[in-house]
Amino acid sequence: MMKKISIAIDGPSAAGKSSIAKIVAKKLDYVYIDTGAMYRCVGYYCLQNNIDLNNETAVSAILKNIKITMDSNNRVYLNEHDVSDQIRQDEVSMSASLVSSYQDVRKFLVKQQRQMSNMGGVILDGRDIGTVVLPDAKLKIYQNASVETRAKRRFLENKQRGLSADLETIKKDIEQRDYQDMNRKISPLKKADDAIVLDTSNLSIDEVVNEVLKLAKQREMEG
Ligand code: DC
Repeated sequence: MMKKISIAIDGPSAAGKSSIAKIVAKKLDYVYIDTGAMYRCVGYYCLQNNIDLNNETAVSAILKNIKITMDSNNRVYLNEHDVSDQIRQDEVSMSASLVSSYQDVRKFLVKQQRQMSNMGGVILDGRDIGTVVLPDAKLKIYQNASVETRAKRRFLENKQRGLSADLETIKKDIEQRDYQDMNRKISPLKKADDAIVLDTSNLSIDEVVNEVLKLAKQREMEG
């Protein structure tokens, strides 16, 4: 019996998790949930409303005003406004990383992520999916790539999106976010014990997709 499973993809910033997850979701007819986008929405809301990002209490207090939804085209809505493009700005990346270290923010979003996943047939990407959000996920991938590769990929992606792009700045931002995400107290980025490591530095998107699809189909068969 084939059974739809839950797939967790974790790894550092700009490792190509979302590109892979989107394609795999389409091919398997699964729902893709971009959990980073949810942290970005919280960071973006704070920036827009002049909330002091370093003030944890102030950030906790605005959570009740935040409603995040996603549609089947992977557009992200914050209180019904499409913010898909705005939340990709570098300033928002840094603020997302900062607010993601706060307990209340994590509780608020993890709860929603679990609710969104409870039917199975989902693929989530983030930092703590395999370790915290879905510890029972049937397939866990830890997707990594060298800092150089990741910076170059993000550089090209930003250019395509028409966002400002400076390779050195992007590289520094990625290093800083890696550090923050791996060293925070609550749910730091780390490979789940049962995750499969995919280093994508020298792999094409197709190669990574095929590997994940192969693993997913095996796990679906195991039911
Ligand atoms: O995946 P991303 O770059 O869009 O994520 C933005 C930030 O959100 C990232 O620096 C850390 C945080 N994040 C997190 O703490 N847990 C997740 N599951 C996803 C993202």
